[in-house]
Amino acid sequence: MVRLLRFYQSSVGKKVVVAVTGAIMYGFIIGHMLGNLKAFAGPSALDQYAEMLREIGEAFIGHGTFLWIARAVLIVAIVLHVVTIIQLVRRNRRAQPTRPSMRRNRSTLAAKWMAISGTLILVFVVIHLAQFTFGWITPHAAGTADFEVGKVYSNLWGAFNIWWVAGFYVFMMVMVCMHVYHGAWSMFQTLGLDAPGRNKILRGSAAATAIILFLGFSAVPICMVTNAIGAPDPEISSEVQDPPRPDQPKLETGGRREG
Ligand code: HEM
Repeated sequence: MVRLLRFYQSSVGKKVVVAVTGAIMYGFIIGHMLGNLKAFAGPSALDQYAEMLREIGEAFIGHGTFLWIARAVLIVAIVLHVVTIIQLVRRNRRAQPTRPSMRRNRSTLAAKWMAISGTLILVFVVIHLAQFTFGWITPHAAGTADFEVGKVYSNLWGAFNIWWVAGFYVFMMVMVCMHVYHGAWSMFQTLGLDAPGRNKILRGSAAATAIILFLGFSAVPICMVTNAIGAPDPEISSEVQDPPRPDQPKLETGGRREG
């Protein structure tokens, strides 16, 4: 334990922590975006995917426990990442007291931008969890179903059929992706990976990741608010899909919201 703490005190140790926690957050955000894209396979596909996440390791550790472990790891990663970056930036500043003013201006501007967008994202995540995970804030369009735990598609559909909710999410995705771009780039610099011969590739991969994340995340709110993808059918539960009785009228699936 003492050894681990001593390693963390060193600059190399801090860089390793930044890289590992950064990789965990990247892994989460890319996985989350890919998971959201299940919405394009239909309500059942998305709801079943969310349920599957809760079923991982169920036989050994119980229902939903894996998800709680993953949430805990994510929270620890976020806190460690932010705290360690602040410590590294302070250490770097102390080590280079005299820098050309142009570079200082540029770096303080980038640091300010990262602090502002990072704070906005933290506020967004709190609102986001209150909305879709806990169901505490549930704005939903008239004529759409109330929030229900496990009905992920329906919950998204109700929310994103309000134009300003969809707009808020798309706006926040711009923030998230710009933060990801700057974050990745400055992480490469912090880790000392930047070099004139490599910078084009590093910047390019940071930009490509940010653009893919923006497109992947924004696709769901945009396609729902424009009705480019179908409404959830309230009569078909994602868990129990009874075969229709012969006297029952045929259900239309993937239809558009009325009104
Ligand atoms: C348009 C973009 C997004 C949509 C549509 C979306 C949708 C959702 C939904 C529906 C849930 C609940 C899933 C469930 O109950 O199983 C969720 C959970 C979550 N989202 Fe997002 N999300 C988006 C962007 C983001 C971003 C950018 C972040 C991080 C910066 C994020 C972080 C989280 C976290 C931490 C959870 C909690 C995971 C859990 O506890 O299950 N989301 N999201």
